[in-house]
Amino acid sequence: MRLLATLLLLLLLRSAEPRRGPRSGAAERGAGGRVRGRGRAGVMRRQTQECKEYMEAGEKYLDCQDRQLTNVMQDWPKDIHHLLLARNKIQVLRDNMFSQFTQLKSLDLQQNDISMVENRAFSGLSQLTTLLLQHNGLKTAGEEVLLPLRRLTYLRLYDNPWSCRCSLDSLVRTLQVPSNRNLGNYGKCAEPLSLRGQKLRKLSVESLCEGNNQVDTSPGGGVGGGQIPPPIKVKPEATSTCHTYMFPKPLLDCSNKDLNNIPSDLPADLVKMDLSRNTIKHLRPKQFLLSKDLKLLNLSSNSLHRIDTAAFAGLLYLRELDLSNNSLHYFQYGVLEDLYFLRKLSLENNPWICDYNIHYLIYWLKHHPGVFYTGLICSEPREFRGWRVEEYVKTYNGECPKDRQIGGVDTGQGGPGGTDNEAVGETVEGQDEPQHLKENKPKKFEIIRLR
Ligand SMILES: *[C@@H]1O[C@H](CO)[C@@H](O)[C@H](O)[C@H]1NC(C)=O
Ligand SMILES: *[C@@H]1O[C@H](CO)[C@@H](O)[C@H](O)[C@H]1NC(C)=O
Repeated sequence: MRLLATLLLLLLLRSAEPRRGPRSGAAERGAGGRVRGRGRAGVMRRQTQECKEYMEAGEKYLDCQDRQLTNVMQDWPKDIHHLLLARNKIQVLRDNMFSQFTQLKSLDLQQNDISMVENRAFSGLSQLTTLLLQHNGLKTAGEEVLLPLRRLTYLRLYDNPWSCRCSLDSLVRTLQVPSNRNLGNYGKCAEPLSLRGQKLRKLSVESLCEGNNQVDTSPGGGVGGGQIPPPIKVKPEATSTCHTYMFPKPLLDCSNKDLNNIPSDLPADLVKMDLSRNTIKHLRPKQFLLSKDLKLLNLSSNSLHRIDTAAFAGLLYLRELDLSNNSLHYFQYGVLEDLYFLRKLSLENNPWICDYNIHYLIYWLKHHPGVFYTGLICSEPREFRGWRVEEYVKTYNGECPKDRQIGGVDTGQGGPGGTDNEAVGETVEGQDEPQHLKENKPKKFEIIRLR
């Protein structure tokens, strides 16, 4: 009975919605309040009525994007970890506006109309690591704003009309502390004219309060003790042109951005990263070390021809790796050992060379039968062109000794010590080793045991 009544009420509220129109927060709060007065089960979902609440990997999300909101509602659940408020109508971030969300880890406020942040707007957010304020109307803010955010590692400020005058001095100094590597990387001055287009992180702080009558260089402001920290050398600063999405999953979309390197300032809590259609040639060690939550990495359609050992270090949870349409010839020994949970590996459209260097890949795949892979076809040498690489390796092992013949094919990849280079066949997990995979262990290889 009660359930029915609740449902009816909900229906009524729903149908009344369009007429109520996208008003202010007050209307929403009223509605939320009324609903809350009803039954207890499911209250959670209804009191946030228009926001969507969900769990992902044990963390609670409240998705309130695109809802014409001007404020945060008091009846939203307090135990959320991620609050998505992109594309609303918020204008001012008031003191303690978010302080009830004590467990908040990320707060997405991009694409609102925020032109002012009060100094204690973020107080209470001691767990917050990610704050997105890009695409707003902010002109100035002090470092006080960031003080409660002890754990902040990722702050986006770009596409705000920053006024690079004395009042911005303390914030700029904070951003320029070298250890704050992902704070405000792409924020730029909009005024004064002389500084327009300059990056906040690269401004000469001295100049901000020069010739400016309101000299208020706060004593604590100069985090570096008045010294300008050395300019941070940021390589391509590519993420300024990439899009970050927090919904449905944190995604960095850097596809087709003319990158020739992995951006040096990758945010830490991404789940998906799309770097496809760029001109990246070389993956160096540990470039993804901080992206430890990454599940999908798309590097397809680059110019990759070299992947260093430890390039994938840290990608413990990576499930899908797309390396298709590159210039890969083989995988260097050990490259794949960091990928404990890989499920899908796309390898098509690479000029795989079927000589002994490719054996590591086959060996690894054999020991990771859960990995579904595609596109492993020999393109060189001519005699094996079009063969599946597994077939080539089988032949190689079956017709052993063949080293001389294979070694004789000059691919420029042979390297020294080619006589003993059988498939690397250490039994890692059981006795069901196929006979043709011989147990010769080349001296120069070190077998890393998987845990
Ligand atoms: C990677 O990107 C390419 C091109 O942008 C796309 O076609 C492909 O489906 C993507 N791969 C995955 C696994 O999402
Ligand atoms: C492969 O990559 C090249 C650029 O490296 C691109 O022009 C082409 O469209 C890509 N092909 C596919 C099938 O994605």
